[in-house]
Amino acid sequence: ICTDWGSVGQWQWPEYFPDCAGTSQSPVDVVTTQTKYDPSLGPVTPLGYDQHNNRPFTLYNNGHTGNYSTPCGGGAALSVQLHLHWGSGGPGRGGSEHTINGLSADAELHVVHYNSELYPNMSAAVTQPDGLAVLGILIAGEETNPAFNNILSYLSRIRHKTLIPAFDVQSLLPKDLRRYYRYNGSLTTPPCHQSVTWTLFRERVQISKAQMETMLHSSRAEDDDGKMLQDNYRAIQPLHHRVVLTSFSAGQIDTKKRKC
Ligand SMILES: *[C@@H]1O[C@H](CO)[C@@H](O)[C@H](O)[C@H]1NC(C)=O
Ligand SMILES: *[C@@H]1O[C@H](CO)[C@@H](O)[C@H](O)[C@H]1NC(C)=O
Repeated sequence: ICTDWGSVGQWQWPEYFPDCAGTSQSPVDVVTTQTKYDPSLGPVTPLGYDQHNNRPFTLYNNGHTGNYSTPCGGGAALSVQLHLHWGSGGPGRGGSEHTINGLSADAELHVVHYNSELYPNMSAAVTQPDGLAVLGILIAGEETNPAFNNILSYLSRIRHKTLIPAFDVQSLLPKDLRRYYRYNGSLTTPPCHQSVTWTLFRERVQISKAQMETMLHSSRAEDDDGKMLQDNYRAIQPLHHRVVLTSFSAGQIDTKKRKC
């Protein structure tokens, strides 16, 4: 949907990475009238995030996006990476990868987990259909969100690898963990493996305009390859045969104030 110079390269991904031309690619546009309520989808219960509380996170730059990896630990669905995707247009101009009824959010955070019950590490899981689970968090630029300062203050310093103090990953998630969209998709960057069970939260997480600006400024810093860290979001991919499931029915009463 956005074809400025910063994202032109993605049209050529399939030449080098065949999976990028697959029929279960991400991101997608969630058309809410075409979703299907699945009552078996319970609340998301983040497990094991506190295991990282007293360990620093390794932050490194893969030339495409801010990329955080945590030391390994136990747990069935290990959180191993955080990615931020944003646009260069500023608040209100879009930058999220997933869209809802055609509308993008200002930015989108991905918390990547791999299935550690079946696979020994991320590289083994990333090619398997049941390998990864990614939480997608849509971000809107309004209220200041202290939880995001950890990520934002380090974005501008990314070169190759740096340590950032440990923080509680759960604090980056929305409060409402009950209502989300679920579908089978892919990595949104090459090699685009179709190994991701996506959970896209309905509630957006707020960050302030100032925090959004921090993100945009850091995106203007060139990395070592001379590529600009900006507009790092992929165009919407066709759903093909897929149906997006929801954990909530349309008529469900608002549970925003519920403690999860
Ligand atoms: C991941 O696990 C596979 C299979 O056990 C192993 O061959 C590979 O070396 C591991 N990779 C890393 C990066 O640890
Ligand atoms: C994802 O694919 C698996 C395997 O085909 C299927 O069992 C599951 O229902 C799919 N999930 C969604 C959300 O469509």
